[in-house]
Amino acid sequence: MARASESWSSSFGFVLAAAGSAVGLGNLWGFAYRASQGGGGAFVLLYVVIVLVVCLPVLVAEMVLGRSTSHAPLIAPITAGGRRWAPLGLLFLVAALGILAFYAVLMGWTGRTLLHALLVGLPADMAASEAFFGLISSGGGAVLGLLVSLALTGVVVAAGVRGGIERLSRWGMPALFVLLLGLLIWAAFLPGAGAGYHQFLLRWDAAKLLEPTTIRNAFTQAFFSIGTGIGAILAYAAYLNRRSGLPAEALSVVGMDTAVGLMAGCVTFPLVASFGLGDVVSGSTVGTLFIALPTGLASIGLAGRLVAVLFFGLAYIAAITSSVSLLEVPVSSLVDGLGWRRREAVWTCVALVAVLGLPPALSTGALEVMDALFGGVLLILGGLLIALLLSWQAPARFLSDLQGCGTPPALRSALLFSLRWISVPAIAVGLSVSVLDLAKMWFG
Ligand code: TRP
Repeated sequence: MARASESWSSSFGFVLAAAGSAVGLGNLWGFAYRASQGGGGAFVLLYVVIVLVVCLPVLVAEMVLGRSTSHAPLIAPITAGGRRWAPLGLLFLVAALGILAFYAVLMGWTGRTLLHALLVGLPADMAASEAFFGLISSGGGAVLGLLVSLALTGVVVAAGVRGGIERLSRWGMPALFVLLLGLLIWAAFLPGAGAGYHQFLLRWDAAKLLEPTTIRNAFTQAFFSIGTGIGAILAYAAYLNRRSGLPAEALSVVGMDTAVGLMAGCVTFPLVASFGLGDVVSGSTVGTLFIALPTGLASIGLAGRLVAVLFFGLAYIAAITSSVSLLEVPVSSLVDGLGWRRREAVWTCVALVAVLGLPPALSTGALEVMDALFGGVLLILGGLLIALLLSWQAPARFLSDLQGCGTPPALRSALLFSLRWISVPAIAVGLSVSVLDLAKMWFG
């Protein structure tokens, strides 16, 4: 097996790329959409607890799996746990391809909305907005958006880890942060902003917390937003040197991701409240933000158009720094496992995902199903298996890798303990609830 001779320029480069992977459409679109479904502040609290207590140790474990083996997602589980862990590598590949397929469709919608706001303008009313959304989310328009987004992702990944992915994150992440901060300040001065924050963070519908759908959404959102469970961060960590302190790096990734999710909520909720779009959003479907935001912004003229350009531009930057991590999973696996050249691997995978992306491009129903299966069930299952592999099957590898990068003994044992006794049981519960909830939803 030929390990590609790629690496990050520094551990800061790795952290930026990992944060770029975490911060994406999930934060800007999924978080607001799920929080409005799941009881506002109660959902946000549940989400933050899952992220810190359940996902953070899994993220560290996934990083250790990549760095300690120096292998791609397809191979790393075998190196760490032996042949019988081979199916986990396959799960990583299948899930990454499946997520990228619908993610690139969402990117396509984002890009089209951006171009329209930039070149044409915003839809005059709800009906016009729905018509425009229909146009970009079905038929040839959606396929075009998918193909362009995949091609851009392919170009970055083909340029390599340092020359492509790291370089993109180095300017993309700061740009995104500045744009978001600007929008946050602008939104704070909207009439009715207070009602928006209230709706997002302070509304406390505790009854929702016991609903299986809320629990499924919170687990899905946590794993999806951090981006742990399918080997993307594993692939990135395989290009890392031995000394960088993984727990602190994982914590900064999680911190940035959560901050961006909360900031995005503090932009979208005031907007929705200010323009009286609450009803549209709580009957939430995947298309809501793409319909509600442009309509609301249109009502304030040129300033609204500018904000739309900034918001969807920022969303597109966030999306592409994420999609590259998804593509890196199969690409690095072909390079590492089968000795392919990076370029060949990239364009083969892009072609494959273009085909897989046709159903979600042509039907939003198919998109929701793929989101729930690949971005939900398989992702959470992957997280569970990573936790099991490093805490029960190969704890010595986990501890010695952390020791090697100078993690204090108490922190090492605390992480191992929480992987074993908190993450594993909690994810098992979250996964069971999710599967049952989906089964009930789909099969009655
Ligand atoms: N985290 C990204 C988002 O919030 C999407 C993403 C990138 C992802 N890499 C991932 C999701 C790996 C699951 C697994 O939009």
